[in-house]
Amino acid sequence: MSNAPIVDIDPTAFWHDPYPALAVMRREHPVAYVPQLGATLFTRREHIVELEKRIEVFSSHQPQGLMNRLMGHNMMRKDGAEHLAERKLMLAALGPQPVRAHWEPIFRADATRLLDALAPRRQADLVSDYAMPLAAHALRALTGLTHMRWQDMDAWSQAMIDGIANYGGDPAIEARCHAATAGIDACISERWPVLMHGPEKRDPEVRDPEVREPDQSLLATMQRAGLPEASVRANIKLSISGGQNEPRDAIAGAAWALLAHPEQLARVRSGAVPWRRVFDEYLRWISPIGMSPRRVAQRYTVDGVTLEPEDRVFFMFGSANRDEAFFAEPERFDLGRTTAGAHIAFGAGPHYCAGAAASKSLIAEVALPALFERLPGLRLAPGAEVRFGGWAFRGPLAVPVCWG
Ligand code: HEM
Repeated sequence: MSNAPIVDIDPTAFWHDPYPALAVMRREHPVAYVPQLGATLFTRREHIVELEKRIEVFSSHQPQGLMNRLMGHNMMRKDGAEHLAERKLMLAALGPQPVRAHWEPIFRADATRLLDALAPRRQADLVSDYAMPLAAHALRALTGLTHMRWQDMDAWSQAMIDGIANYGGDPAIEARCHAATAGIDACISERWPVLMHGPEKRDPEVRDPEVREPDQSLLATMQRAGLPEASVRANIKLSISGGQNEPRDAIAGAAWALLAHPEQLARVRSGAVPWRRVFDEYLRWISPIGMSPRRVAQRYTVDGVTLEPEDRVFFMFGSANRDEAFFAEPERFDLGRTTAGAHIAFGAGPHYCAGAAASKSLIAEVALPALFERLPGLRLAPGAEVRFGGWAFRGPLAVPVCWG
């Protein structure tokens, strides 16, 4: 075990608001062992930005980790060439070009449909009525599992996230995670032969009139490239576990941040501040993924702390994004901040989020502008108290609003 100074946390308080404890760690013990989490935490931006790239020390390969055991061996738990080969396929489907040309119009159509249905209601919870279904529809399209119910997309994503953070080994949480992965596997099994032997595959002359271009989804892209089925399944589960709650939390959270700071919303409405800045500053301020774990592969000393092989390390992105050594007044949501784009909410190394371009498009280009445009007079419901939860994954629990 590392000789890092030991810092205790109250897990309940940390779940409700991790930022005060993280600020103390950054100041006093930036590399600290937290017994309640069973891991050594890196909380300063400069450490994380440098060390995440050192994959020979901070390995993503964690064969005994909960993610591998519950969701299969996906690309995020691989290093080097093996990781890069699968990442290339993911980016072929999710990179900036396919996002602009193919996915953004789909996101836009979904957002318009949802907002048109909401508009006459005059009140809603932005989490469950807008951000959740919109993120799930987008993810159904991106993964290629368009026959999955959007409610299942959200519930199964959450069940996997809970499963891989189940360090206490609660059997009920593990059972829910198994049920979720079984549901996803069933959806993949249904779709797999259709993609493999669909009309355009059986006879290139007989094209399904609905199919005007090769299927660009993650499932089809990985299948076409001949990636082993087990890896395809694991990467689809990874995309579902990592591609639902973050956009959901960022859409609802950023909308709340604007509604709670009307003077800053006015600057966005006037065009003085672009939506892209809202997206970046929100991800910096309240990062939907607070950390990424690594396994120490070889002895390494940093800042007087010696880490030993097999130690578990958490790179605390949420803390790095509030590092006062880099961001002035980091606790403030401030759209005037020109350094907002320097956040590391998508990571800072070779595992930089493969869904970043899709998220930027979905949230900054579509979800937020459409919401404020199509629901005139949008405001927080009177007396609404918006609470946030989580530290590994963090977002608002509900955002009651009204309009008109
Ligand atoms: C606001 C939205 C999102 C945030 C904040 C986010 C954040 C992250 C973070 C922090 C990582 C780990 C980076 C690291 O360890 O260095 C990651 C990895 C990943 N994310 Fe996202 N993510 C978002 C949306 C998405 C979406 C929509 C998808 C897929 C449709 C996705 C797919 C992935 C994949 C496949 C990886 C693994 C990349 C690799 O191992 O090379 N993410 N994401």
